[in-house]
Amino acid sequence: MSELRFHLTPGGCLSGRVRVPGDKSISHRSIMLGALADGITHITGFLEGEDSLATLAAFRAMGVRIEGPDAGRVTVHGVGLHGLREPQGPLYLGNSGTSMRLMTGLLAGQRFTTVLTGDRSLSGRPMQRVVDPLVRMGARIDATQQGTAPLTIHGGCMLSGIDYTMPVASAQVKSSLLLAGLYAQGATCVTEPAPTRDHTERMLAGMGYAVERSDARVCLEGGHALGAIDIDVPADISSAAFFLVGASIAPDSDLLLEHVGMNPTRTGIVDILRRMGASIELSNERDVGGEPVADLRVRSAPLHGIDIPPGLVPLAIDEFPVIFVAAACATGQTVLTGAGELRVKESDRIQVMADGLQTLGVRARPTPDGMIIEGGPIGAGRVHSHGDHRIAMAFAMSALRAQGAIDIDDCANVNTSFPDFVVLARGAGLSITSHHRERCGE
Ligand code: S3P
Repeated sequence: MSELRFHLTPGGCLSGRVRVPGDKSISHRSIMLGALADGITHITGFLEGEDSLATLAAFRAMGVRIEGPDAGRVTVHGVGLHGLREPQGPLYLGNSGTSMRLMTGLLAGQRFTTVLTGDRSLSGRPMQRVVDPLVRMGARIDATQQGTAPLTIHGGCMLSGIDYTMPVASAQVKSSLLLAGLYAQGATCVTEPAPTRDHTERMLAGMGYAVERSDARVCLEGGHALGAIDIDVPADISSAAFFLVGASIAPDSDLLLEHVGMNPTRTGIVDILRRMGASIELSNERDVGGEPVADLRVRSAPLHGIDIPPGLVPLAIDEFPVIFVAAACATGQTVLTGAGELRVKESDRIQVMADGLQTLGVRARPTPDGMIIEGGPIGAGRVHSHGDHRIAMAFAMSALRAQGAIDIDDCANVNTSFPDFVVLARGAGLSITSHHRERCGE
C-alpha cells in the first residue's frame, strides 16, 4: 500500500496569477438542486475534486443523467422534486461530510430507502446533529450507537415542517433541514446561533424557490418546484486561503487570485488576515449568479498576533489550519476561542495542527475550543496530516518561512478539494514535490 507525501524545500515567494478550483460547497449544491429541478442545469467551474464527484456519482446512482465533468462543465438533467430513483446499493460518499449531511435531509423525503457510507474519517464524524431534527420532522433514520455512519434513511415517511434553533452554527445542518423542508408539509424554519454560509438559500432563491430570510432565521414552505438555471461556480475562497496566507508570510510575494467567491458568509479569512496586518486588495468586484466574486491581490506584509473575534469563527471555519500557520509567522500571540467545531472536522484540526506546529518548533498550545500560538521561527521536520486535505496544504505553505525541509505524510486527500494543488502552488513559486511512498517496510 502506498501513500502520498509532500516534500518542501524552504523559502521562496509566491507571484503571478492563480485561479484556484471551484467552490466545493457550491459545487455540491449545484448537483443536488440541479437534480431536483425541472429542466437542464448547466454548470461551469465545477470542482472536480473527490468530494463533489462523490455527490455527482450518488445522484447518477439515483437515476439522474449527468454529463461531464469536462474541464469544469457539467450538465444535469433535472428529474424534478419527486423524480429520484432508488439506487442499486449503498451510496459511498468518501470523505465528504457535506454530501452526507445534506443528502440525509434530502433523502428523508424520498419514497425509497437509502444507505449512506463513507471512509474512516467520515464514519467517525457526528451525524446526530442532522438525525435528531430530521426525526422530529418525521424521518426514520438508523445510525450507529455512536450517532455515526453508515446511515439508513428510510423512505415513505411523511415529513412535517419544523421550527428549529440549531445548537451549533452549522451550514450543513441548516441546509440538511431546508432540503428536507422541500418535502415537508408546512413551513421549515431554521435559526442559527451565528451566521453560516448561505449558498443553499441563495441557490434555492436563484431557482425560483421562495426562501424567507430575516436576521438569523430562514424559512421555506414545502412542495414547490425548482427551475433549472445556469450556475457559474466561483473559485473557492477556502482554497484561495492557502495562497492568501502563503503570499502574506513569504517576503517579496505579489500574487493575484482570480474570480474568488466573496460571499460575506465566507470571507472571515480576509477579515482575520487584515486584522493581522495582511495586504489584500479587492478588484473587479462583480456578481456571478447571485454570488459575489472578486480578484484578490495579496502582497507580503508583516503580520502580528491577534485575539480572533469569536463571531468570525463560523465565517472562516475551514481556514483555521492555515490561519494557525499565519499566526506562527506573526509577531506576538494569537488566541483562538469558540472553535470547538474544529475538533470534529476531517481530523481533529486543533490537536493535529498543534502537534505539527510543535514538531516544527512553534509554541502552539491547544485548548478545548481553540489554540494559543506564539509567533516565532518555523524549523524543519516531518509532520502528519492525518488524511486531512487542509492540514496538508496548510503545512505546505509553512515551508515558505521554514529553516529547513518539511515533509508531510498522508496527503492523498488533498484531491478531495484541490486536485491541482501541487501544480498550481509550484507554478506560483512554492518548492513542493509529491511522492508515493510504500507504507510497509520503510
Ligand atoms: C459546509 C459547511 C461547513 C464547512 C464544510 C462545508 C457546507 O461545515 O466546514 O467544509 O458546504 O455547508 P459545518 O456546517 O459543519 O460547519
